[in-house]
Amino acid sequence: MRAKKLCAVALTLCMLGATGCQGSSKNDTTTSTEATTVAETTEASATDVATTDDATAEIPSLKEIYKDDFLIGTIYAEGSLNEKDVALMDSQFNVITPENIMKPEGMQNVEGTFTYTSADKMIEFANEHNLKVVGHNLAWHQQSPSWMAQDKNDRDKAIEQLKSHITNVAGHYKGKLISWDVVNEAIEDGVSLPADGDWTKCLRKNQWYNAIGPEYLAMAFQFAREADPDCKLYYNDYNLELQQKADVAYAMLKDFLEQGVPIDGIGIQGHMQTGVPAGGLDYALSRFSELDIEISVTELDVTYNGAAGPSLTEEEQVKQAITYAQIFKTLKNHSDKVERVTFWGTVDSQSWRGESFPLLFDSLYQPKEAFYAVADPEGYLEKHAEDLGVMPTVEANATYGTPTVDGEEDEIWKDAEDIKINRQVMAWEGATGTAKALWDENNLYILVHVKDDALDATAENAYEHDSIELFVDEDNGKTASYGADDGQYRIDVNGEITFGTYPGQDGVKGFAVKEDGGYRIEMVIPFTAPVTENTVIGFDAQVNDAKDGARISVAKFCDSTDNSYMTTENFGTLKLVK
Ligand code: XIL
Repeated sequence: MRAKKLCAVALTLCMLGATGCQGSSKNDTTTSTEATTVAETTEASATDVATTDDATAEIPSLKEIYKDDFLIGTIYAEGSLNEKDVALMDSQFNVITPENIMKPEGMQNVEGTFTYTSADKMIEFANEHNLKVVGHNLAWHQQSPSWMAQDKNDRDKAIEQLKSHITNVAGHYKGKLISWDVVNEAIEDGVSLPADGDWTKCLRKNQWYNAIGPEYLAMAFQFAREADPDCKLYYNDYNLELQQKADVAYAMLKDFLEQGVPIDGIGIQGHMQTGVPAGGLDYALSRFSELDIEISVTELDVTYNGAAGPSLTEEEQVKQAITYAQIFKTLKNHSDKVERVTFWGTVDSQSWRGESFPLLFDSLYQPKEAFYAVADPEGYLEKHAEDLGVMPTVEANATYGTPTVDGEEDEIWKDAEDIKINRQVMAWEGATGTAKALWDENNLYILVHVKDDALDATAENAYEHDSIELFVDEDNGKTASYGADDGQYRIDVNGEITFGTYPGQDGVKGFAVKEDGGYRIEMVIPFTAPVTENTVIGFDAQVNDAKDGARISVAKFCDSTDNSYMTTENFGTLKLVK
């Protein structure tokens, strides 16, 4: 089934100009008239939006462009919908997903009391605006009331609760939704399918799993099918662009289909990042295409980490847009199997990851470069051929000074700047850190504070401990593989030091100290060649987050890939300043 053809609505958008409007270099597909009139603007904020009678610009309609390919969706963010959001919904989208209100805690926060008012209003709104609606979601480890499956020793009670929740909620919305995300995020992070193919070993130990066991998934789908027989039933998860997780999901879906579990679709959330190639998405789409199910991208957003200012510069926007163009080019190649592509929001300022500007419109409701890239991916990539493959490099400074390396935080660290380690590489959640760097003629010194309230170093593999990894490329050569000047150094929460490839220099030393809400590490790495003021070295830092003996997330300073241990190409830089 494809998107119903809706008439093209020329969108009237005010153009506020100035800050936040860098996305106005349009590509050839746009029918835009130049945004001329409102040149003088002051700093405008998300709430300070212009009225629609300022100046107008027409932009193409994404739902029209993709009408023969897939539905184009956005979220229904209850409570914050203004006139401009509605105008964009009308012109750009044909399907909505409630951002929060249909989650278990929204539907049944108190056992036995169902609260349908907000979601009923959304259905009414959708009908008035010709929008289809996706239900999100019925069983999840988050945003669920604590009474659900509370007693892990009472399996029958948990099954009864799961059944009652799904029967009531899916029953109430019977016939009103095109699909339900029945189970959300059930696969653990950082796992790979075991040799025996048993995907149940890869499940997250959430409340439903702990009380019911792996069978809770099949049960949830069964209850949903009984409650709303014509609704498409989805399994929805993030990081399916990572081959290992896609393989686990594939094994699970295949098993479900063979056993007659009523499942119709796989939702690839698509919480992605600028600079990460679309090859992973292509792999997932190809893999899932082998199965008799539909595929949707359900929560697409592409973060830009490390932006220089309060909004993206044009150059930063282009980098992000290239990633969006690559994603849409890939989606178009699989359009026979892709049913819907939903963005997790429309305007950056309203995004749950707003600090990294992940959406198609800026806070002033102006289309960004990313919008034009989505509107015409091939054209955009051709136009920006020379920018392809450009990864955003994050730069930071190391301050001159020599601390005593003993795990104590000497006064001298106060002078060093904060270096955020918060680019999530594997997951969208997990431990992050803040580093500081000092240098002298002999050594590089690094201090990291990690926010992680559950410490774990029980795994056999050192990289699966709560730990910090430091990557140093002394000549900033950005080479495809490690050279004599490159090193990978790891220290775990207990102060145990391990190495990847490294120059083997004497004097590497480090300490770890547990502190409130996490831990800190202090480490010294001797330079192998002379350095002076203004030397720039390649550098990255990584926070490994572990739980129950497995690595569940990786956050980085710069490198958005998980390949820092093999190549220095994507490292950020540290400038040695005085
Ligand atoms: C997010 C919402 O956008 C936030 O408003 C809320 O605070 C947390 O949840 N995967 C999902 C979505 O399936 O439901 C999540 O939405 C984002 C990750």
